[in-house]
Order: sequence, then C-alpha cells, then structure tokens
Amino acid sequence: MRKVRVSICTGTACFVMGASEIMLLEDNLPQDLRGKVEVEGIPCLEKCKDSSCGKAPFVLVNGQVVQQATVTTVIEKIRTALNA
Ligand code: FES
Repeated sequence: MRKVRVSICTGTACFVMGASEIMLLEDNLPQDLRGKVEVEGIPCLEKCKDSSCGKAPFVLVNGQVVQQATVTTVIEKIRTALNA
C-alpha cells in the first residue's frame, strides 16, 4: 500500500507558527493511521512570503497544501487522501 506523504515546512515562519508541534505528528497518529504515513521536514516553501497563499504553518499532504495546519487538520487531510 502506498503511504501518504506529509511534508512539513520547517522554515522559520512555519516553525514558530506551529510546525514544530506538527513534526511530532508520527507520535500523535491515531492507531488506524500508523504505518500509513511518511513524515518529512522540508525547507521553506516560499508560501510565507505570499499572503494570497494563506497563513503559516504550511504542510503538504501528498503535494496538496494545507495552510494554518494543525495536527488535527493534517490528520483530516491524511484520511481524505487515504479514501481518495
Ligand atoms: S517558512 Fe514555511 S513557507 Fe516559508
């Protein structure tokens, strides 16, 4: 089974706005999602410099941008990706 790829921006703006907490996602995954997700940190996506992109922190779930991401919204997106 293909895993859902979660790419978390670790640039300064995202990191201070909460990406640091999302980096702990793997530890906070519900039991049914364990082993189905691949988490990585990535450098600044440059979205923090363009207000039309929304607000930090930014996370990509299978390449789809989640703005103002939280552990909860990222988990929702992972579920959507798994059901797609
Ligand atoms: S720091 Fe995350 S998009 Fe720039």
